[in-house]
This record gives sequence, structure tokens and C-alpha cells, in this order.
Amino acid sequence: MRKLAAGNWKMNGAPGSEAMLADLAAAVPQPGCDVLICPPFPLIPAFLAAAPGIGIGAQDCHWADAGAHTGDVSAHLLAALGVSAVILGHSERRADHGETSALVAAKTTAAQAAGLTAIVCIGEREEDRDAGQALSVVDRQLWDSVPEGATGENLVIAYEPVWAIGTGRTATAAQIGEVHAASRAALVTRFGAVGRTVRILYGGSVKPSNAAEIFAVDDVDGALVGGASLKAADFAGIVAAAAG
Ligand code: PGA
Repeated sequence: MRKLAAGNWKMNGAPGSEAMLADLAAAVPQPGCDVLICPPFPLIPAFLAAAPGIGIGAQDCHWADAGAHTGDVSAHLLAALGVSAVILGHSERRADHGETSALVAAKTTAAQAAGLTAIVCIGEREEDRDAGQALSVVDRQLWDSVPEGATGENLVIAYEPVWAIGTGRTATAAQIGEVHAASRAALVTRFGAVGRTVRILYGGSVKPSNAAEIFAVDDVDGALVGGASLKAADFAGIVAAAAG
């Protein structure tokens, strides 16, 4: 499967940050994998204009098409701008905004109906792993956060152990392999052959120095990258590793 290197800029960047995209394109002119950058909402138009060949995504959307939802953004509006994907259910949104898996599923339905690829994030907390519950927590989130109707184009799963996000601590290849294999099996149980076409990304302190080892793990179809996606040189190293 062609890998996806996706950058999650979170609440970072400023007007002018789209210059990073030209630097990235210069560093890896023919990526050999799909590349996506998800900046904050206000930067999306400039990123779209600056990024031929690089997909631009958002970091959230609402579950409704339109209406009285102050401060929210609809999937339809994002799609109309030219956005191709949206990150949903990131652990920071689950923690900061109390997002439940049921809400994430509703947002995923809206994103898919608007023609976007939903990148649905799942991942256990450190206490879940310490209690031997990593697989069961992730399986429950996968089941509850993903609605019916998945295809290889409209759904991407991102496994991001919460304890590895922004901490510099990366899950081991064995830990990643165990969760990705279980997630693949769950997707196949749920969606049949389509479940084999859904990409499963790993996220959590991915950097140029560990990307190749992570991408070599079975059923790792790319990465969702936070901190290391902010600098063109670092992200270029990950993109190059994804092309493998
Ligand atoms: P990180 O973030 O690469 O900075 O650990 C990953 C993410 O939260 O998507």
C-alpha cells in the first residue's frame, strides 16, 4: 500500500508559514508516498495555494452540515475550500474538549459525506497500557469511533499511544506491530476485504531517526507527525523514509 506521511501542525504556525511547503517540495521533489499537511484553519487557504502536489487537511470538523454552532467548521466548507482530509478524535481533542468516540463517529460520517478522508485517531493512555488494557481500549475506540461505510479512500486510522505524543518516547516496533495487527484484523472483521485497504498510520514522536524502523513494521501504512512536521528538513526525512 502506498504510504501516507501526514503532518499535524496542531495550534502552531503563523501567516507566512506556507513557505515550509516550498522547502519541503524542494527537499523531496518526487515524494513516492502521499503527503498531507494539516495546519490550523486560518492558514488553510494560503497552504492550499502554496502546495501543488501536497494534500492539505484540517484538524477537526463539526458533525452537522450547517447551523447554530458558534465557533465550529463544517466538513462541507472544508471540502469546498479544497481540503482533502480531516483529523478527527485526536487524543488532545478527546482530553481538552471531552470528545467521545460516538461524537468522533458522527464527525467521521459528516466528513465522509462531504468527500473528505477522515483520519480517525485512537490510542491508549499510559495507565491503560500499564494495566494490560492497551489492546482492548484501542479496539473499543476503533469500533465506536468508526461509522459504517468505510472505504480505502474515505477512512484512515491513526494509532497514537497518548504517552508517546509530544514526549519523545516512541512505542517499540513490537508494541506498534501488535496494535496495528489487531486493528487490521478488526477492520477486516468489520468491513471485509475493504478493511485491508484502509491505511493505518502510527503517530507519537515520529522523527527522521526512527521513521524507517517504524515504517518497516507490518501494517504500518504511514505516520501522523506532530512536532517533526513543523520543519521542512525533519518532515522531508520522514517523507523520504515513507517512500522506502
Ligand atoms: P508528535 O505528535 O509527533 O509531536 O508526538 C503526534 C500527534 O499528536 O499527531
